[in-house]
Amino acid sequence: MSQLETPLFDALLKHRNRHPIQFHIPGHKKGQGVDPAFREFVGDNVLSIDLINIAPLDDLHSPKGAIKEAQELAAKAFGADHTFFSVQGTSGAIMTMILSVVGPNDKILVPRNVHKSIMSAIVFAGAIPIFIHPEVDPELGISHGISAEAVEKALNEYPDAKAVLVINPTYFGVAADLKRIVDIAHEREIPVLVDEAHGVHIHFHKSLPISAMEAGADMAATSVHKLGGSMTQSSVLNVREGLVSAKRVQSTLSMLTTTSTSYPILASLDTARRQLAIHGFDLIDHAIRLAQDARKRINKIPHLHCVGKEILNSSATYDMDPTKLLISVKNLGITGHQAEEWLRENANIEIELSDLYNILCLVTLGDSRKELNLLINALQRMSVAFESDAAIIEPVVLLPDIPRLAMTPRDAFYATTEVISIEEAVGRISAEFIMVYPPGIPIFIPGEIITQENIEYIDMNIKAGLPVQGPEDDTLKMLRVIKEQQAIR
Ligand SMILES: Cc1ncc(COP(=O)(O)O)c(C=O)c1O
Repeated sequence: MSQLETPLFDALLKHRNRHPIQFHIPGHKKGQGVDPAFREFVGDNVLSIDLINIAPLDDLHSPKGAIKEAQELAAKAFGADHTFFSVQGTSGAIMTMILSVVGPNDKILVPRNVHKSIMSAIVFAGAIPIFIHPEVDPELGISHGISAEAVEKALNEYPDAKAVLVINPTYFGVAADLKRIVDIAHEREIPVLVDEAHGVHIHFHKSLPISAMEAGADMAATSVHKLGGSMTQSSVLNVREGLVSAKRVQSTLSMLTTTSTSYPILASLDTARRQLAIHGFDLIDHAIRLAQDARKRINKIPHLHCVGKEILNSSATYDMDPTKLLISVKNLGITGHQAEEWLRENANIEIELSDLYNILCLVTLGDSRKELNLLINALQRMSVAFESDAAIIEPVVLLPDIPRLAMTPRDAFYATTEVISIEEAVGRISAEFIMVYPPGIPIFIPGEIITQENIEYIDMNIKAGLPVQGPEDDTLKMLRVIKEQQAIR
């Protein structure tokens, strides 16, 4: 089959054009039972392919027809041995990836600043996380990925680890020397799993960081919906055979996936793959040019700084994706959050994210010069609006000690718990996640022993005005801990 073909989308169109009389779910039956205002708005086309896994349309749980062909074309496009479609985002693909290689009490190396789906999978698996500190950029107040040296050191210390998980590239578009990390792990026959949520496009342009599959990683969970032009919730799990079994991945994915898979979402993956394979280079090339031009123009605006390759100086910060416009606003005397609100209220612009010191704007294959001009114009106006507050601000980025794990996060999750005041919590075992965002590094995860130093660290962060997140009690006076059993007399 050629990359020009879209077997799943074609099967849906062919089926719809036969106008079969439906006596199966979804009960809205080609839109006829949908609320009229919603039907009018979304249109009959999408509702007519909102179908279910009847024989002509194959089944994501055991693909043998159109879905199998669509996945095979995707595997070719991504340079993988197998590609699995996910209708549960990269979160679903990440959980599949982890649960297919680690089980109870298995060790897995992970960066401390992982997405919550990774910790969820570790809880489900009953695995033991071995945390690696990400590199932190003190100028920008953000965390990057992990270095090859840190992976090597961790693997020397934990040679029995069953997998290494890497976030690559990061949300901010910074990539580690992934090839070196993969080589280090593979020398020990340990599989490398990549959270590639922010990197679907990198495989399709030679001037972007190398993709997980190019670097020889064993699995990569990749959000096609974020930057690859498909619908929200659609992701792929790319697999290289050898250290992992594709059969095990398929059965794990099936265990975690709804039996009512959305065909519009699956079809959008099939068609996004075609677009990336055929036109990806040109579309991404255009986005890179727009972003590079915008970066230069933003760097001429007083008090703003748009980050570029000058921040690359280690194996954790080895390459970067220039389509991410990470703009530091700290010298304008405002927080990233204030900038986000200003742009919303004064320029009708919605950005990807903000933190204490920065905003992040994404330039994708969906952009044109017009949107970038509007962004730059708004940033110029924002710079003038806050001109009188401008000052040099030194970001406060502190790294907490990683506490000792007393029990697996899973045992902590299922244990009997109680809520006590933070002052009484020293020496007890945390039952919840607490983190400072940014840089998004957990201070405690379930199962870790609470220390005086880390309580002081929380306090210091609150006093510095940093957003401490996670505990049920958002005043941070109370913490949920594992209940201690009293001896029975
Ligand atoms: C680093 C990282 N990994 C994984 C995910 C999960 O991706 P999804 O939203 O497709 O489930 C995200 C989402 O923002 C993310 O930032």
